Amino acid sequence: MAKIAVLGYGVVGSGTVELFYKNKESIIKKAGKELDIKYILDIRDFPGNPYESKLTKSIDDIWNDDEVTLVAEVMGGVNPAFDFVKGCLERGKSVVTSNKELVAKKGAELLKIAERNGCNFLFEASTGGAIPIIRPLHQCLAANTITGIAGILNGTTNFILTKMVDEQMDFGEALKIAQQLGYAEKDPTADIEGHDACRKICILSSLAFGKHVYPDWVHCEGITRITPEDALYAESWGGAVKLIGSVKRMEDGKILPIVRPAFVCSANQLSHVSDVFNGIMVYGDAIDQVMFYGRGAGKLPTASAIVADIIDAAKMNGTSVSQRWEDSSDNSFIADYKDDVVSFYVRADGASKESVAKAFGDVEYLSRENQPESELAFVAPEMAERDFDAKLKLLDGKVLGAVRILNLEG
Ligand code: HSE
Repeated sequence: MAKIAVLGYGVVGSGTVELFYKNKESIIKKAGKELDIKYILDIRDFPGNPYESKLTKSIDDIWNDDEVTLVAEVMGGVNPAFDFVKGCLERGKSVVTSNKELVAKKGAELLKIAERNGCNFLFEASTGGAIPIIRPLHQCLAANTITGIAGILNGTTNFILTKMVDEQMDFGEALKIAQQLGYAEKDPTADIEGHDACRKICILSSLAFGKHVYPDWVHCEGITRITPEDALYAESWGGAVKLIGSVKRMEDGKILPIVRPAFVCSANQLSHVSDVFNGIMVYGDAIDQVMFYGRGAGKLPTASAIVADIIDAAKMNGTSVSQRWEDSSDNSFIADYKDDVVSFYVRADGASKESVAKAFGDVEYLSRENQPESELAFVAPEMAERDFDAKLKLLDGKVLGAVRILNLEG
């Protein structure tokens, strides 16, 4: 018999408890041993809740109970989650988590503590919600040298962009619905500014390339400057605008992780990933590419990955899996995004075609419905990003928007 503690009874925590009891019989069969939830930790009271007797406000109850060998951390944030998780791992209790901020900022350290104490720190639910991506990247694709990963990693922003395009809904209204549906972070700034996607690409990069990539080392832009006009130009160009988190191996052996909105052409499957869904392309030397797709946020989709990790942790009791990476003391293995060769879409007001030609040479002009006479939109040729920045300053009009074009390899 193994007893489980759930840390946090919010959207994902309540989903975890709900899913566990809904499918308890088959979960126990798959785990190969009796399992039950003994504690639910939360500072709030839940009078009348069917699991009220399991509620505790004290982590000591969990730390000091030897029956508890499995812990699901679904609180979010680094504090106090880090101390709670560390304390569990130091006592040999395996921890599974959906907390991407914790894994992205403290993953290497927690993985080391788990290894030292012969238990596991699993985090399938931290990236891609319901989508299996951590285990496949570590196991099923292990024979490959991974060359890149590109994905729509944030459900909230994908939901907002989809609503803006399909229903001409304004940004605020779409965000409000995403919050009501339980997709958004407590502070949705993390979603719309790209920080959430950044944490997820850090986790995937660390796992794929074996060294901890810290969020502070990653260039990150969110969707707040994307306008309905940009979305219309993306359509007329033959694609869609999406928030993309990606990482690629460069020729010099460095890696380039980045988060930014991008025009994605319709030949790329990611352009068709809508609503709260996430899509993740993985590129490798043997596989060419594989795509993972599913619900990237929400109560039961995320609980699905948490409960699967609980089952795995129960099966692996007494051993520590090799799903880990080294810590990194400096970021010398991260390439400068300004050196990357990219193509940009540009929207400008009052710019002359002569100044566009002078700055960029031959460009592809785009058009949209109700385009004002003074507005120009075009796609510039590929060049190093720092050269593009310099040339953009040569335009004689006001730049209203500049969005990168995603190439097929991310
Ligand atoms: N806020 C996150 C998202 C939740 O929208 O994707 C899942 O990590």
